Amino acid sequence: MDLWHIRGGNRLEGACPVQGSKNASLPVLAASILAPQRCRLLHVPRLRDVDAALRILRHLGCEAEQRENEVYIDSTGLSGCSIPHGLMAEMRSSVIFMGALLSRCGEARLSMPGGCRLGRRPIDLHLAALRKMGARIEEEGGELLCRPSKLHGEEIRLSFPSVGATENIMLAACSARGETVIRGAAREPEIVALQGFLRMTGADVSGAGTDTVYIRGFRPTGAAVCRILPDRIVASTFACAAAAAGGDVELRGVEPGQFSTVLHFLNEAGCDIITKTHSVRLRSEGRLRAVGRVVTEPYPGFPTDAQPVLMAALLKAEGTTCIRETIFENRFRQAPELCRLGADIVCEGRTAWIRGVKTLRGAALHATDLRGGAAMIVAGLCAQGETVVFDEGHVKRGYDGFDSALRALGAEIRLE
Ligand code: EPZ
Repeated sequence: MDLWHIRGGNRLEGACPVQGSKNASLPVLAASILAPQRCRLLHVPRLRDVDAALRILRHLGCEAEQRENEVYIDSTGLSGCSIPHGLMAEMRSSVIFMGALLSRCGEARLSMPGGCRLGRRPIDLHLAALRKMGARIEEEGGELLCRPSKLHGEEIRLSFPSVGATENIMLAACSARGETVIRGAAREPEIVALQGFLRMTGADVSGAGTDTVYIRGFRPTGAAVCRILPDRIVASTFACAAAAAGGDVELRGVEPGQFSTVLHFLNEAGCDIITKTHSVRLRSEGRLRAVGRVVTEPYPGFPTDAQPVLMAALLKAEGTTCIRETIFENRFRQAPELCRLGADIVCEGRTAWIRGVKTLRGAALHATDLRGGAAMIVAGLCAQGETVVFDEGHVKRGYDGFDSALRALGAEIRLE
């Protein structure tokens, strides 16, 4: 159990280098097995989920090692195509090994993936697309058995721009005969990053970042070096923390355009924001205004992953903010915990109303999921007295050195 002890009230000041993206690293790690090849990945965050992906790779017979922020993978020795339940259950992203294994081996055996409990998280879109491409997938008692299959290119229409389904199809399509076209694809920066890595390893992919992605074939190059893009949700979290606690923080090594919707609302709330090509400076007096209505949407809309931290930032804002969550059915699990600090949040279905209060007082909270846990830490930074967040390792799934980065900005936080 991780215990985050936070004593609120300090302003946050200084430069904050932003880690590499978890959600960009994980699909690239899965893609590293598409062909016998050696990959070197730079700027990879040290996270529980990355570690889980490396253990999956080793289980499959690959060499996979992380030294600080560099990851080395040699997938020439890949010898298996099944992933045991224990490894699959560690994170949601394990499901994209299905597309990668189908591509490399033509078969796979895995179980339903784990991940944050944000409501129902079916994988029907993944399965329907892979089946349309010729995969023979059977579901038996929580197991996914992909029998030896030869994949062929197809036109796939996604009824919702699922990030994971888009990634899975891209990976499977690399070895499929003929062209695959994904219509209604997710447009997240992580999809563009995956396209970049796939091109480097020899795939003919285009269109990522738009709603139509084309995958035309794969001639393995044998080696690739790739730098992981900065984490837009971690950047958003630090921005929300500085906005709420008050301060003057420069986020370094970021792509401001990738979290501009979050910056937009922080600006509306009264923060002074200056963006440069790869940095954002945010100044806040810590006295924010409510921002009216926020609706989470697929990229380029406001990201669901930043919703809990924005909610935390607005707990003391003057007025009422309404947040509508459209991506996950149960993503307000942090709200009852935040109310223990004295916050005034009313949730009805997928809508939450946050009425700003004058004071938050430290309390003991339980981290419900990754971003919910981060939101509690952000709220603790602007609460009087001590907040303790009891966390079964959720926050470390996505934040690398969160406590030390916050301490470097002047926060009083200790991880036990
Ligand atoms: C990715 O999850 C991210 N995870 C999530 O980040 C993020 O919240 C999410 O995209 C949305 O942006 C990774 O990249 C590892 P989806 P993913 O498939 O791929 C429904 C974080 O905190 N759906 O776009 O699982 C689904 O139930 C995490 O870092 C189906 O109905 O997201 C959900 O309601 C949490 N059928 C919605 O679509 C399917 O087959 C979005 O899911 C697939 C999805």
